[in-house]
Amino acid sequence: HLQPPNDSQMGDLRRENCRAKGGSGGFKVAVLGAAGGIGQPLAMLMKMNPLVSVLHLYDVVNAPGVTADISHMDTSAVVRGFLGQQQLEDALTGMDLVIIPAGVPRKPGMTRDDLFNINAGIVKTLCEGIAKCCPKAIVNVISNPVNSTVPIAAEVFKKAGTYDPKRLLGVTMLDVVRANTFVAEVLGLDPREVDVPVVGGHAGVTILPLLSQVKPSSSFTPKEIDYLTDRIQNGGTEVVEAKAGAGSATLSMAYAAVKFADACLRGLRGDAGIVQCAYVASEVTELPFFASKVRLGRTGVEEIHPLGPLNEYERAGLEKAKKELAGSIQKGVSFIRK
Ligand code: NAI
Repeated sequence: HLQPPNDSQMGDLRRENCRAKGGSGGFKVAVLGAAGGIGQPLAMLMKMNPLVSVLHLYDVVNAPGVTADISHMDTSAVVRGFLGQQQLEDALTGMDLVIIPAGVPRKPGMTRDDLFNINAGIVKTLCEGIAKCCPKAIVNVISNPVNSTVPIAAEVFKKAGTYDPKRLLGVTMLDVVRANTFVAEVLGLDPREVDVPVVGGHAGVTILPLLSQVKPSSSFTPKEIDYLTDRIQNGGTEVVEAKAGAGSATLSMAYAAVKFADACLRGLRGDAGIVQCAYVASEVTELPFFASKVRLGRTGVEEIHPLGPLNEYERAGLEKAKKELAGSIQKGVSFIRK
């Protein structure tokens, strides 16, 4: 963007001005890590979202190629690519929503926490950019370990003096998407009719499906509860093993990320009753961060729903989840404060 705009860019600018003047709105969205396994399909699906007027695709590799490709889709969002750290600030300036799928994924045998050393630094750098260039943006963190990367983001924003807990959300939507799918299979229902709250965090035992609160109201045998809980908690590992070294969930994750981002954008637009599960700063438990149902609105997270009544199985799961989460949160916080 150092050169004067060419004809096609002039067209983009005209379209953008036209939208701004017409008040038809549309939001500006940046994807950081847009050339990755999640980033590419996520960028494609965001280009198809009518709520998006401008889509910025940032990565440290291959951003121009992905941008050229996606920009040919005949949907209205204007797409721009940004390559490398020196273009991060341009990528972020003016954004309403920033989605972060940057970082390395798991290989077989790895836990999400094994990614900490690399991804913590990546998330830190990207969040420093956000604090500087779009401190009011809603931030969706996908990079693992989410249980630690969200506390890292919060600490970076606190240091910069821009922290607003309502605008920082860890994306746990894939756990909900998986839970809806697996529960629908067991119940013989269409997954679109099923709603399973998944609370806690986004790793192993911290992923806590509340099967007693499934809608439509359903009952499960103890065997079904064990099977479903285990499959939902280990859905990510199921994909990592099936991909056998070629990465982790990317397509279902992009789907889930776009479902979540769309909910954030509808909230920003002022739609009523937008409720999704997300990992946020929370007082639902004694921990500083916890995933549960939240209501999204013009300012981000406008209300955090209580967990609701838990059965004995879920209460035991909650204790295990909290124990692991406490350590992961502390690890993220110390990474910045050390
Ligand atoms: P990938 O390796 O295919 O893509 C990651 C992308 O990030 C690459 O294009 C890479 O160039 C880019 N990147 C690396 N450093 C960067 C930096 N400093 N700035 C900007 N971009 C940078 O990985 P994949 O499969 O897309 O996964 C990305 C992350 O998402 C991983 O950490 C993975 O564990 C996580 N994930 C999270 C899920 C969730 O439910 N929250 C589910 C699945 C994956």
